[in-house]
Amino acid sequence: MDNPFRPSAGATPPQILGRAGLLDEFDYGLTLGSGAPGLLTIFTGARGIGKTVMLGAAHDLARSHGWAVISETATDGFMGRIGESMRQLADELGTGPQVRRITAIAAAGFSVTTQLPPERQVAWRSIGETLLRLLDARDTGLIITVDEIHAADRSELAQLAANIQHFIQDQLPIGLVFAGLPSAVSDLLNEGVATFLRRADKIDLHAAAVRDVEASFAETFTAAGFQVTPDLVRQSAGATGGYPFLIQLVGYFLWREAEVNDGILSARAVERAIEAAHRRNARTVIEAALSTISPKDLDFLRAMAQDDGPTAAGDIGLRLGAKTNLVANYRVRLLAAGLIEPAGHGKVTFAIPGLRRYLLSRPS
Ligand SMILES: Nc1ncnc2c1ncn2[C@@H]1O[C@H](COP(=O)(O)OP(=O)(O)OP(=O)(O)O)[C@@H](O)[C@H]1O
Ligand SMILES: [Mg+2]
Repeated sequence: MDNPFRPSAGATPPQILGRAGLLDEFDYGLTLGSGAPGLLTIFTGARGIGKTVMLGAAHDLARSHGWAVISETATDGFMGRIGESMRQLADELGTGPQVRRITAIAAAGFSVTTQLPPERQVAWRSIGETLLRLLDARDTGLIITVDEIHAADRSELAQLAANIQHFIQDQLPIGLVFAGLPSAVSDLLNEGVATFLRRADKIDLHAAAVRDVEASFAETFTAAGFQVTPDLVRQSAGATGGYPFLIQLVGYFLWREAEVNDGILSARAVERAIEAAHRRNARTVIEAALSTISPKDLDFLRAMAQDDGPTAAGDIGLRLGAKTNLVANYRVRLLAAGLIEPAGHGKVTFAIPGLRRYLLSRPS
C-alpha cells in the first residue's frame, strides 16, 4: 500500500476530517436548481485549513448530480477564462444554428489580462445564457468555483457578480462557490463590490477535532498493518492540533518512518516524524506567508509572540513604542494577509499554527 497522505496544496486527503454536513445545503441546492440559497457559498479560513479541498468536494458533488463545472483561481483575467470555458461547454452541448452563431461571436476570444471590454462583456453574458439554457433543458446547471478570491481584481469580481445575479434573476441554473482568506473576504463583501454576494452562505473553516484525527490515524495505520501504541497515536494526533495541513504532514512522515522500520513505529520514530512535519510546515506555509509582509509587520508579529496566547492591541503598541493608529494599520494588514485573527475584546492571535514557535526560534 502506498503512502495515502497528501501534504500538498489543494490535494484531496485520504479522509476529509471535520467537514460533515458543510456541503448539505449546496447538495440540496443542486437538486432544487436556480435560485437555491446553497448555490451561493463562500468558504473562508486560514492558510492550509482546507478551502481548496472544499471547492474540490463541491466540484465532485456537482458532477455527481450531472452539473457542469468550471473551476478557476482569481488571478487577473479569470472572467475571460470562465468565458472561454463556457464557450467550450456550449460548443460540446449545442448543435443548433443559434448556438453556433453565439459561440462563433464568443470565439473571438476572452483572453485579456484584466477586465473585459464592453463588447466582450456582452458576448460573455450571451454565451453564459446560451450555455445555461442548454443545461436547463437537461435539468442540470453550471457551478463556477473561484479560489483565492481575496486576491481578485475588484472590478473583475464586480463584473462576474453582476452577470451571475442577472442569470439568477432569469431563473437560470447557476451556482457560485468561492474560497478565500477570512478578513480579506469580509472586506471584499463590505466594500460593496458585489452586494449580492453578501447573501451567500459564508462557511468559515476551522481545525478538525484532535480526537477525529486520532481515530483516523489509528484506522489508517491498523489497516496498513503497522504497529504503534495508542499513546503514540494520540501524541501524533495532538501534534497536528487538528490543522489539516499538519494532519497530512504528520501522517505522511509517520508512514515514511513505518516504511523504513518494518512497520513498527517507536517513540523515537514518532518524534522524528512530528519534527519533520513541523519543519516542513514552517518552510512551506509560514515562510511563504512571511515573505509577503513588511519588516514593520514582522515586528508586530514578534511583539505578539511574546505572549503565550492572544495579545491586546495596546500591549503591542507599548512593546513597539508605536501610536495606536499605526498599530491599527498593521493589524488590518496582517488580518487581510491571513497571518493573525481576531480573538475577542480587541485581541489578536496567530492564524497559522506553529507561527509563534517559528518566530521565537528565530529572534531578529
Ligand atoms: N478536512 C480535511 N481533513 C484532512 N486533511 C485535509 C482536510 N482539508 C484539507 N486537508 C489537507 O490539508 C492541506 C491543505 O488543504 P488546502 O490546500 O485545501 O488548504 P487551503 O485552505 O486551500 O490553503 P491555502 O490558503 O494555502 O490555499 C492539503 O494537504 C489537504 O490534503
Ligand atoms: Mg487553497
